[in-house]
Amino acid sequence: MGLLDEIEPLKQAALADLKAAADAPALEQTKGAWIGPNGKFTALMKQLGTLSKEEKPVAGKLINAAKVELEATLTARREELELKAALPTEPTDFTLPGRRRALGKLHPLTQVTDDIVRAFRKIGFVVADGPEIEDEYHCFDSLNTPADHPARDTQDTFYVDNVPGASRPAPDASGTLAARSLLRTHTSSVQIRVMQSQPPPIRIIAPGRVYRRDNADATHNPTFQQIEGLYVDKNVTIGDLKGTVEFVFQQVLGDDVKLRFRPHYFSYTEPSLEIDFTNALVKKLGKDWLEIAGCGMVHPQVFENVGYDPEVWSGWAFGFGIERIAMLRYGINDIRLFYENDVRFLRQF
Ligand code: DAH
Repeated sequence: MGLLDEIEPLKQAALADLKAAADAPALEQTKGAWIGPNGKFTALMKQLGTLSKEEKPVAGKLINAAKVELEATLTARREELELKAALPTEPTDFTLPGRRRALGKLHPLTQVTDDIVRAFRKIGFVVADGPEIEDEYHCFDSLNTPADHPARDTQDTFYVDNVPGASRPAPDASGTLAARSLLRTHTSSVQIRVMQSQPPPIRIIAPGRVYRRDNADATHNPTFQQIEGLYVDKNVTIGDLKGTVEFVFQQVLGDDVKLRFRPHYFSYTEPSLEIDFTNALVKKLGKDWLEIAGCGMVHPQVFENVGYDPEVWSGWAFGFGIERIAMLRYGINDIRLFYENDVRFLRQF
């Protein structure tokens, strides 16, 4: 049998082999056996040289066409086998119930913070931010809280030694310590940073984490959240303060909220007030009033410290804890529950 007659039967045999390969490795092996460097079909091509001048082009054409066909069959079979390998081996039961993806939620403290921020935004306040590692100047001095004020006592405050420039320098000749770094004890430091960075008028709130050396119990935690507010403009009055605070608390805790303002002392406000609050939730706790926030008219010295003229500008500021409001709203009786990250607790809000 001449070479020309061998092409077709050999091709048919190769095609049958390729189509019969049971999996990818078998297919690759079959490919090698036929069209690899030592394959049977390749051997056929190597014999072309032995043919006569007339036969050579005819055989060449046939062989090339056969090769194309073999390559196409190889690719088709490869795809078939890949698809087969990807299919599930077990039958699928489409009547089984679906697998639900667990949805996360915002932490209750975040939800309450968002609600408070939303209420303030309605009346033109914007959110401001400041560092949690503060210096004594922004946390205390600039807020008219001198070095011998009890709020600066190391018992209440976490001083930080291990940030650049935060080591405790020796006191100077007068016994005064240079500004040290500390974990901010309140968000009031943000007031100063905002006023230092822009001219009045100002309408900001600053939610954020604060730190104090408190022992954790049902109502205290060394880390907690506050919101600070500051309004500076011309002719600002205590009436503006009362109206604003009342609006926000009614938005967040319900229309039945009533507020009471009591005289108090903060070094950065004059006069200073403490805000008590009541509604059905407070009554349910068996109490008449609950202390909720500190506030007052910005002290002229604070304005001086940031370069505002206290004869021209007036303003009020307030600060309150977010946990207390969240506890009230949700009827939570232990503050520590907020920080334990127990999903059985968190799932409820
Ligand atoms: N900084 C106070 C605190 O942590 C709260 C506060 C009181 C903030 C009066 C103020 C203010 O802005 O005017 O207890």
